[in-house]
Amino acid sequence: MSVGGSSAYAGMEDLPRLVKAALAAAAEEGFDNSCAPQQGRLLSLLAAGQVGRSIGETGTGCGVGLVWMLEAAGPSTSITSIELDPHRAERSAGLFAGCPNVTVLNGDWSGLRAHGPFDLLVLDGGGKGKNVGDDPPLDPTDGWVAMGGTVVLDDFTPAGEPGAPLHDPVRDYWLGHPALRTTELRLSPTLATLVGMRVR
Ligand SMILES: C[S@@+](CC[C@H](N)C(=O)[O-])C[C@H]1O[C@@H](n2cnc3c(N)ncnc32)[C@H](O)[C@@H]1O
Repeated sequence: MSVGGSSAYAGMEDLPRLVKAALAAAAEEGFDNSCAPQQGRLLSLLAAGQVGRSIGETGTGCGVGLVWMLEAAGPSTSITSIELDPHRAERSAGLFAGCPNVTVLNGDWSGLRAHGPFDLLVLDGGGKGKNVGDDPPLDPTDGWVAMGGTVVLDDFTPAGEPGAPLHDPVRDYWLGHPALRTTELRLSPTLATLVGMRVR
């Protein structure tokens, strides 16, 4: 999520214990790009349907999105996340040291593919092709998403809202990918997420 993701939790008490621990780590690191609470709840919902399966994430950050998923999916679900920043990767790996089903890797997002295909793939730090200078978006059928699996892409401005581009080739790529059924979910007036299921 964009700037302000971590601080959006200020004053929220009714959070899963592990989410609070990850938020504390983010605060200590001065990292304010954690997934917003609305996105965390969406990840939790999606992960709850993946018990015993496999989840992948690009861009671990300080592990906030990851704990939303872990808390919902439980210990039988394999979760692999990759983070480019070595310090954040190490810090997050430490947070999950007691969770043998969680692996946090340090490296570029492209390295996650070797651990796929995933039943749930969360693209939050590479792979969606969203920002200028990014690599092109990944192809979910190329070893990334299992048949029937779900891909989630955070951090879009809701279509039609101020700031949303009139023509958005990245949004079009994901909404129109022939192997996916994808829709845009508006999580707040300023935040939308694309969720797609692989059907071919
Ligand atoms: C929006 S934050 C992730 C937030 C996190 N997923 C959460 O839910 O709290 C994006 C993260 O992606 C990482 N990142 C940026 N480029 C990357 C790349 N090429 N490969 C892997 N991670 C990358 C950044 O260092 C940053 O920690």
